[in-house]
Amino acid sequence: MSYHNPYTPPRKSATFDDYTLAEIRRAAATGIYDIRGAGTKRKVPHFDDLLFLGASISRYPLEGYREKCDTSVVLGARHAKKPIVLKTPITIAGMSFGALSGNAKEALGRGASIAGTSTTTGDGGMTDEERGHSQTLVYQYLPSRYGMNPKDLRRADAIEIVVGQGAKPGGGGMLLGQKISDRVANMRNLPKGIDQRSACRHPDWTGPDDLEIKIMELREITDWEKPIYVKVGGARPYYDTALAVKAGADVVVLDGMQGGTAATQDVFIENVGMPTLACIRPAVQALQDLGMHRKVQLIISGGIRSGADVAKALALGADAVAIGTAALVAIGDNDPHWEAEYQKLGTTAGAYDDWHEGKDPAGITTQDPELSKRLDPVAAGRRLANYLKVMTLEAQTIARACGKNHLHNLEPEDLVALTLEASAMAQVPLAGTSWIPGKGGF
Ligand SMILES: Cc1cc2nc3c(=O)[nH]c(=O)nc-3n(C[C@H](O)[C@H](O)[C@H](O)COP(=O)(O)O)c2cc1C
Repeated sequence: MSYHNPYTPPRKSATFDDYTLAEIRRAAATGIYDIRGAGTKRKVPHFDDLLFLGASISRYPLEGYREKCDTSVVLGARHAKKPIVLKTPITIAGMSFGALSGNAKEALGRGASIAGTSTTTGDGGMTDEERGHSQTLVYQYLPSRYGMNPKDLRRADAIEIVVGQGAKPGGGGMLLGQKISDRVANMRNLPKGIDQRSACRHPDWTGPDDLEIKIMELREITDWEKPIYVKVGGARPYYDTALAVKAGADVVVLDGMQGGTAATQDVFIENVGMPTLACIRPAVQALQDLGMHRKVQLIISGGIRSGADVAKALALGADAVAIGTAALVAIGDNDPHWEAEYQKLGTTAGAYDDWHEGKDPAGITTQDPELSKRLDPVAAGRRLANYLKVMTLEAQTIARACGKNHLHNLEPEDLVALTLEASAMAQVPLAGTSWIPGKGGF
């Protein structure tokens, strides 16, 4: 006879939780893996696990109204005749036309230009809307070579060679047929309406020596004017940074695993790559070991949301940051205004990530002309500019409180960690101690 214990409620497994069970059933029913956009949804150590100490008796804060705290940054002065000069160290990350609508690209360009920062093209080439509305435009040179041409290389203000992305280091992009409109097909030289997977590695190189040759080739095409960035996904940040510097990069862009993507396999987003927080110190160490810290700039991305995140990335040694997802939210992505339509798609505002399907109610991750029209690029650009301004002011407020007259004067010494993991990854002491795991202290 079985015994029913009336005191103990039914207990669900932490390993086989409701979401896991649903995923097993979904896979069993459909036989296909899940594709989605956005970044990792699991919790990993992040900037939230760090705190600034602020000034005290031993540190002197700056007076907000009288003493300046500079936020400008110069990118790419190592070799380029025309380095990039930005008013804020918060840049807009590469997001492709194809993944995003023309109006969304235009809004990003408008917002960034008002704020005095740069935008970046993506895996789909340069659009006229984007070039026309971006004061400073970085042109991505990707493994797929979609939309790549020497004319656009010369129309750009900087070139970013993409080796990888934080959401999918080692993987290529995906654009499903429903987003391959006439215009997208034409720009990418692809048949309309057919799913495409873009390459995960450059067709003409097999290692760092080839990267060096490629950088030289791009410098020749652009008359040594444009800074050359190299973007890598957060996997082996020390060696990747060192190799990019050795190959001649002016700027290294390092994208951690929380970094967003337009579309890839969920299993990839959640299980490949290193948290952004864990990538920064090894990369900075590589730059310092080569005597290149602050000479080759480091741009960090992957889960940056606020001025506090910006200040923390800079305090750990980055020169600038890039934002993707947060910029999309600022222009209207996942806005509760469209809740009724999210519900019809079987989701809710804040969770919508089927960006590959092209049905975005907010008109951002779509090529549908009717949906795209919902996004007013002028108003959306203004929202992005406001958001960038707030983040810059927030970072500045923190820097002032730490007594710094430039955001770049923030340093690891200004930070403590709330958890052992964050302490080990960021190499700053656990709060209340001088202890850094692996480094000693009390
Ligand atoms: C919709 C979307 C499209 C993207 N397209 C590209 C791309 O074409 N090339 C690329 O290098 N990265 C691409 N990314 C990644 C971003 O450049 C960036 O690395 C990432 O979004 C940063 O993380 P965050 O979204 O947490 O800010 C894309 C990201 C998003 C959200």
